[in-house]
Amino acid sequence: MAQAEFDRTKARAFTQLMVRHLEGAAVSVMLEVGRRVGLFEAMAQMSAATSLEIAEQTGLSERYVREWLGAMVCGGIVDYAAAEGTYRLPREHAAMLTGGSTRNLTSMVEMFPLMNRVIPDVAEAFRTGRGVPYSAFQPDFTGLMDRRSRPRYDELLFSAYLGKPEGIAARLEAGIRVADVGCGTGHCVGLMARRFPKSTFVGYDICEAAIAEARAAAAGLANASFEVQDVAKLEASTPFDLITAFDAIHDQADPAGVLRRIRAALAPGGTFLMLDVCASSELADNVGLPMAPYLYTMSTMHCMSVSLAAGGPGLGTAWGHQLATRMLREAGFPDVQLFERIDPANSLYVARSSR
Ligand SMILES: C[S@@+](CC[C@H](N)C(=O)[O-])C[C@H]1O[C@@H](n2cnc3c(N)ncnc32)[C@H](O)[C@@H]1O
Repeated sequence: MAQAEFDRTKARAFTQLMVRHLEGAAVSVMLEVGRRVGLFEAMAQMSAATSLEIAEQTGLSERYVREWLGAMVCGGIVDYAAAEGTYRLPREHAAMLTGGSTRNLTSMVEMFPLMNRVIPDVAEAFRTGRGVPYSAFQPDFTGLMDRRSRPRYDELLFSAYLGKPEGIAARLEAGIRVADVGCGTGHCVGLMARRFPKSTFVGYDICEAAIAEARAAAAGLANASFEVQDVAKLEASTPFDLITAFDAIHDQADPAGVLRRIRAALAPGGTFLMLDVCASSELADNVGLPMAPYLYTMSTMHCMSVSLAAGGPGLGTAWGHQLATRMLREAGFPDVQLFERIDPANSLYVARSSR
């Protein structure tokens, strides 16, 4: 078969694309270093300053700070006034690199060192198909997830997520039974239990360390409890009126089984609220979407791999709206509402069990 002619224009364009990818990867390493040593937080408080002044302010080595600044300037993060030899983090950039709100994008780069650590395990999994277990990501994963998702729940749990299912806020006020599956360190349970003292909440997670943290954080909250529980084996002696799953279904070992258990654990007319990654199940639909490469990377490096390691189907981070909706229906939820991109990264599914 005759080979297509080598297209030099295409090759040049691809070289430029590769250069941008490599630059982005390099900058992300320096972003993570800067985050760890507090350079962004410090520079956000400073006006234009020399590397020596920044080093003195942060108590860091000037030589390291200066080299880091080189990467930050060339990466377009920090402004440089060559004549004065001063560096400045513009306010508009600082807003995306500092603080405890969801605008701080450095929580995304925090994932990379953990993913890099498991590259040998993932490469091996490519050969065996066997996946990488959750234990390979610990002890860092639980805290990292907590730091990443906490500001989002603080901002959006009540205003966006719980605002969607009709009448749920009033029912929570009046007093209902609620479970949060895959609760991690229990931040959502704590927020809900404080806001709705007449309702009772239980958080389930398979990770003992996460449950220990959740219990410590909720000490003194009479209406919140936590249990180490594989939710694929969930059995509720008394049914729940509301079950929530925040970012906790797509990486399950048995997601279909978990959804069926959730359905069975709900009282008639009960509500299942599932927050999961915003994506289409069709790769072609995701091409060109912001952060789509990040989704498939995190999936390969974590979400799909942990499911496969536990003998699961490895749905992956981008399992998508079509498959998620179909699986909810197959689990016995006839009524599924999808709120696409309820936040920049996630969609919300509100599934009701029949009365
Ligand atoms: C991505 S984290 C999300 C944690 C938390 N909901 C949040 O949004 O920060 C997924 C959680 O599901 C838990 N998990 C995974 N499989 C589970 C299972 N079979 N039963 C219970 N929890 C499970 C993990 O331990 C982890 O804490």
